[in-house]
Amino acid sequence: MSMNKLHWGQALQGRLGDKQALWDGVASQAGQYAPRLAKELAAGTLPFINMPYLTALKTELPKVMAKFGIGPDGELKHLLLLGIGGSALGPRALQKAFMPQQDWPGYDASGPHLWIADNVDAASLDAWLDKLPPKETLVVVISKSGGTIETMAQYLLVREWLCRALGEDWTKHVLAITDEKQGALRQECDEKGLASLPVPDHLGGRYSVLSAVGMVPAYFCGMDWKALLAGAAAVTAPLAANPQSLGNHPAWRLACWAKALLDANYSQLIFFSYIPAWACFGSWFCQLWAESLGKAGQGSMPLPAVGVTDQHSLLQMFLDGPKDKGCLFLESGGLPLGRAFGMDAVNPLPKQWAYLMGQRFGHLLAAEGVGTLGAMAAQQVPLVRLNMEKTDEAAAGSLIALLEMATVFTGWLLGIDPLDQPAVEYGKRLANARLGAPGYAEEQAALDKYFALPDEEQVF
Ligand code: PA5
Repeated sequence: MSMNKLHWGQALQGRLGDKQALWDGVASQAGQYAPRLAKELAAGTLPFINMPYLTALKTELPKVMAKFGIGPDGELKHLLLLGIGGSALGPRALQKAFMPQQDWPGYDASGPHLWIADNVDAASLDAWLDKLPPKETLVVVISKSGGTIETMAQYLLVREWLCRALGEDWTKHVLAITDEKQGALRQECDEKGLASLPVPDHLGGRYSVLSAVGMVPAYFCGMDWKALLAGAAAVTAPLAANPQSLGNHPAWRLACWAKALLDANYSQLIFFSYIPAWACFGSWFCQLWAESLGKAGQGSMPLPAVGVTDQHSLLQMFLDGPKDKGCLFLESGGLPLGRAFGMDAVNPLPKQWAYLMGQRFGHLLAAEGVGTLGAMAAQQVPLVRLNMEKTDEAAAGSLIALLEMATVFTGWLLGIDPLDQPAVEYGKRLANARLGAPGYAEEQAALDKYFALPDEEQVF
């Protein structure tokens, strides 16, 4: 059984008010939402909770990877991932957490190497395509909708690159992860006979890291992907099995706390990771939170921060800026401590730092974390500590599941749909109109209006 814990001691500081009233509300509202949870689970619209796709994924993933010969003796040493938003942020968080060695000196040139192309950045794409050996590269194109222009544009250029180098064999170097039945990418798979794995129904990008979207790169990089899934299931299974237990679930309590923060005019939510290697979970969480909850004038602005780096950057604002921030504080007592101070007989510690004698580098991180917690308490910043017993794959899976559920439940409490993202679609349509795509007359008219707005230039 996991010993990951939420610590609520600092949660109700500042303007949050009466503790008992809040926790009573948690219990009574859970009674109201449990039937909805049961209904949506039965309808299959919350697959990141009951994970109905798990058995198929566990069977199919090893088969598909074996087909590509993925493994220490396989030919494919590079995975070039094409995707954006939820199709890339989860894989990147996993990569940085569990394969940091790719960024370290002396990393084995024989791989595995994971390259994540998640932007429209001509310089990076050219650099990858100039240097990567096509014969040793697996291109994994990820798009739930199969119609995201940024991803598909990259795919078209990469397809040409592969085809030029490998001729007909190019298809043996592509794996698509997309909707099982529809979309342009699915059509491409059918037409070209590409290998593919599904993004399950109702599993939108930002909720999809624990499907093939994250598990393919995890498998390729040699992570314990089964532990990731098991860690998540340990958190989701009790609720999937018994929706009536909603009120006891930590994700529900987090959601009620997040709603209480908003009701008390805390409009920003810091995600402060004092697990340095998990810094990219901050970007992953912020996309999950922002795209799920920023609707109808509601939601809080998520702010990713990393301890201790951001103590020298954002912390001043957190402590002494506007009192509009709550904080999720991620920590672990299970981090490596590293080297000890004062072991050098030739150069003893300078007097000023003599108190470090015998302490280890990791003790500094822990002490600075405590310092930040104390400073946040002094400033009455409402804060919940997420304490991870370990920082292995199972722990990451548990954290992902907890935060996904907390996000959805917060959306329910706000009365919005946490699973769609209507506002971002409009900008995409305008961009399509700009590129001359057919069927965007209305958007073209809006663009004409935009370009007619008065401007004023100033050289600097
Ligand atoms: O979380 C989301 O739903 C989005 O960020 C998508 O992941 C992103 O827009 C990419 O969409 P798709 O996976 O359809 O290419």
